[in-house]
Amino acid sequence: MTKIWIIYNTKHGNSEKVCEDVKSKLSDKFKISIGNVTKITPEAIANDRPDLLIVGSRIIVGRPDKKVKKFVTQLGTILKEPIPKAATLYTHCLEWDQKVAKMSKIIKDSRVANDILSEFLEIKMEKMKGPEEPGQELKYQNFAERVAVFIEQ
Ligand SMILES: Cc1cc2nc3c(=O)[nH]c(=O)nc-3n(C[C@H](O)[C@H](O)[C@H](O)COP(=O)(O)O)c2cc1C
Repeated sequence: MTKIWIIYNTKHGNSEKVCEDVKSKLSDKFKISIGNVTKITPEAIANDRPDLLIVGSRIIVGRPDKKVKKFVTQLGTILKEPIPKAATLYTHCLEWDQKVAKMSKIIKDSRVANDILSEFLEIKMEKMKGPEEPGQELKYQNFAERVAVFIEQ
């Protein structure tokens, strides 16, 4: 069965919740593993050889989360060959600014994956500690559908 890994870091639980929601939207079609980068090792992912990696990142001062970036960079150094595909998602609480979506470049530069889904999911929170703003369900749905098509291509 096609395997997906989802990774994230979280302080207030927003990114964890968004990643769990994405997992539940994809878990009928794919085998999904999910982990907080502070609790798992890059080796766990490298040894599992997933078909697609979803990298979830909260935005901190206009940049993707540093612990997620470090984890992705380390993963790149231990992978024997890149993961075939990757996708990215973000949580944030300011107005969305396209410039902060730097995780796909980090994934590419670290040679973690060659083929990265150009569309990403961004979920806006009402406040730093959440909850997320209402009415974003369609974004989840579209992202899950795009990932499902992308992984089978
Ligand atoms: C120190 C700090 C800096 C932040 N900087 C930004 C920012 O530049 N842009 C933004 O949209 N959100 C920013 N946020 C909001 C977080 O991205 C948002 O609350 C996120 O969902 C937190 O995820 P978590 O609950 O998984 O930790 C910041 C939050 C903190 C605590």
